[in-house]
This record gives sequence, structure tokens and C-alpha cells, in this order.
Amino acid sequence: MRQIGESFQAPPEFFSSMQSATHVAVLTGSGVSAESGVPTFREAQTGLWAQYDPESLATPEAFRRDPALVWQWYRWRRELIGKAKPNPGHLSLVEMEALIRGYSLITQNVDGLHRLAGSSAVIELHGNIMRTRCTRDGRIIKETSDSSDNLPHCPDCGSLLRPDVVWFGEALPRGSYHEALIAARTCDIFFSIGTSGVVQPAASLALEARATGAIIVEINIDDTPLTQFSDFVFRGTAGNILPSLVNSIKGR
Ligand code: APR
Repeated sequence: MRQIGESFQAPPEFFSSMQSATHVAVLTGSGVSAESGVPTFREAQTGLWAQYDPESLATPEAFRRDPALVWQWYRWRRELIGKAKPNPGHLSLVEMEALIRGYSLITQNVDGLHRLAGSSAVIELHGNIMRTRCTRDGRIIKETSDSSDNLPHCPDCGSLLRPDVVWFGEALPRGSYHEALIAARTCDIFFSIGTSGVVQPAASLALEARATGAIIVEINIDDTPLTQFSDFVFRGTAGNILPSLVNSIKGR
């Protein structure tokens, strides 16, 4: 494992790996959106929400128990996230996509900033907070105004609507996870960027890639459980490291 600091010069073998790569897979976590002002899941709890553990709100049980409270929290988070703009880290990943023939971008983030930045091949493992779906059949519904109980209901069947995100205790969208697993198992290089690498099953994707011989690259401000398995570790912010790496790759 080669650990490279903030004022870094990536080693030549990193660039030769990138040049010979035919498929690059990237997994991002909340650290990539941190520089857009999107607080991580746990940092978000301020003001009225400081008294709540986010994991006690982002569950099917919480929604069954008090849908109005859960919707109030998600509306607050949507307003917070709605103000965020893609940062240089997001934009560099769009440039990287243009440089590599085979490219998959897998994200745990629900803020939609990768698509907003212009990334096209985005696999949203945990859903998208701005989308709403019917609790009965899972269809994505364009939210109309709330009904009398101040909760959004499906215009077709009248069932409650919910945010289209994965809650704790719920399975990931089958299609997205399958796509992410194939990308991890078929890539030559796997980037893990801005994720603590503890929430499963996303956290196991890097090791799936490693098991098939891929080179593992971690970009993070802190050590994570993946650090010891990484071939290249860039210690610093995604918004600083990614533009520099992509510019160096373009310049070769
Ligand atoms: N650049 C790079 N890394 C950063 C930056 C940054 N600017 N800021 C923070 N980090 C790192 C942190 O050091 C941490 O290791 O990003 C990681 C963020 O970890 P988490 O907050 O645990 O977020 P994430 O890994 O995405 O969590 C996974 O858990 O909270 C649930 O469903 C939620 O999708 C989320 C999942």
C-alpha cells in the first residue's frame, strides 16, 4: 500500500494502471458531498433534529409509527440538500468518466449531486432523497399537494408515499446492487472515495474487486477498514485530490 499525502505526486505506477485500465469502478460516500455543504447522515442532526438519532428515523418502523415526523425530517433534509451544488470532486468524476472506456459510478449518497454534476452511469445504492415512491407498489410518483393529514398519498391508489431511499433494515434495490457487484467484479481499478467503509453491503464491494485482482485506490481524509487493503491511498479531501489526479491523467 502506497500512502500519498495531501500535497502529493501520485506514483508513476498509478498512472500506468489508469492508462491500461479498460474498466474503472468508483464507489462514493458522504465525504464526496461534504464539500458541497451536505452534512453526513449523522452530522445533519441540528436544531429540532439534534434530539433524534438519524438511525431511529430512517427505518420502516419509524415511518409506520409516525409517518408525519419522518416526512417532516425528510422535507427538512430535502431543503438542506436542495441548496447544495456539485463540488470539484463531483465534476472531476464526470471528467474521469469521459477518459475511461468502461466506467461505473456507484454511490451511497442519496443527494443526486453526481447526476447534477453530469455523471451518467450512476448506480444509486441507497436511492435518491428527492424521489418519492408509492408504499404499495413501489412506483416512483411525482408528489402532488398533501392531503388533509398533511401527508403525500398516491394519486392512483391512495396509499401513503415515502421517500425513495433505503432505510436501515431494508434491502438495497436489487437491480442497483447487482449492477454494483458486477462492476466491482469486472473492473481493473476500484476507487473508494469519501466513505467510512463500514455500512454493508456497499462496504464489501472493494474487497469483491480486490478478490478478482483489481487495484484498490482509496481517497479519504481518514483511515478506514479498507486502507490496509488498498494499493494506493490518497489521504486528503476528494475536492482537492480528484481534480489533481484527473488533470495529471489527462496531461499524460
Ligand atoms: N473528502 C474525502 N473524504 C471525506 C471528506 C472529504 N472532503 N469528508 C469526510 N470524508 C470521509 C470521512 O473521513 C469518512 O471516512 O468520508 C467518510 C464518510 O463516512 P460516513 O459519514 O460514514 O458516510 P458513508 O460512508 O457514506 O456512510 C455510508 O451510512 O450513514 C449511512 O446510509 C448512510 O449512505 C450512508 C452510509
